[in-house]
Amino acid sequence: MTTTAPTTADRDPFSDIKIATLAHLKQHGCGCYPYSDGSLLATLTAATKATTVVELGTALGYSAAWFAGTGAHVHTIDRDPVHSRRAYDHLARHNLADRVSRHTGEGTHILPTLALTGTDIAFFDGYAPTAAAIRALTATLRPGGLLIAGNMTLGGQADQIRDQLATWQHTDLGETLLAVKPQ
Ligand SMILES: C[S@@+](CC[C@H](N)C(=O)[O-])C[C@H]1O[C@@H](n2cnc3c(N)ncnc32)[C@H](O)[C@@H]1O
Repeated sequence: MTTTAPTTADRDPFSDIKIATLAHLKQHGCGCYPYSDGSLLATLTAATKATTVVELGTALGYSAAWFAGTGAHVHTIDRDPVHSRRAYDHLARHNLADRVSRHTGEGTHILPTLALTGTDIAFFDGYAPTAAAIRALTATLRPGGLLIAGNMTLGGQADQIRDQLATWQHTDLGETLLAVKPQ
């Protein structure tokens, strides 16, 4: 008999949130897919010693939980108040609610009002990325801070975003773009 070694995905501490998100998506068809690789988010947070993260696209709190689980503080934005409320319940169950500040509204409207500067990581996980959302997120980053932009293969304004970030050190990891803000 052959056995397969467990992978990080088999040891997901937030699998309950992922399952709840997929069930919600099935019921409402709202497109709130949980991010495909939570452990990547936590690994990048730990590797960069990030203490502050700003996220566009809370959904039911799956990616926020992975970021907050490293000890970082997360500002997360979602325009759907039901998603945001359910995210609170999930994060509270994992004792992470006090590490996550939730903001409800359109990302490009909310971000400037938060007046965040010097964040270490900016994460985009709304649906297809827009140039305006990426601009608003990256404005919060410190020099040397990391942009993690999901859903780059969904179309939208991906080409425009790549032009915007042409001078940034960047690479593609599947559907995710990683880019470091110039010093
Ligand atoms: C793909 S889901 C996010 C998944 C989440 N990061 C996770 O890992 O579970 C996208 C979420 O972004 C929200 N959203 C999409 N566009 C947005 C925008 N322009 N401003 C605020 N929220 C937005 C949607 O309501 C939805 O909850």
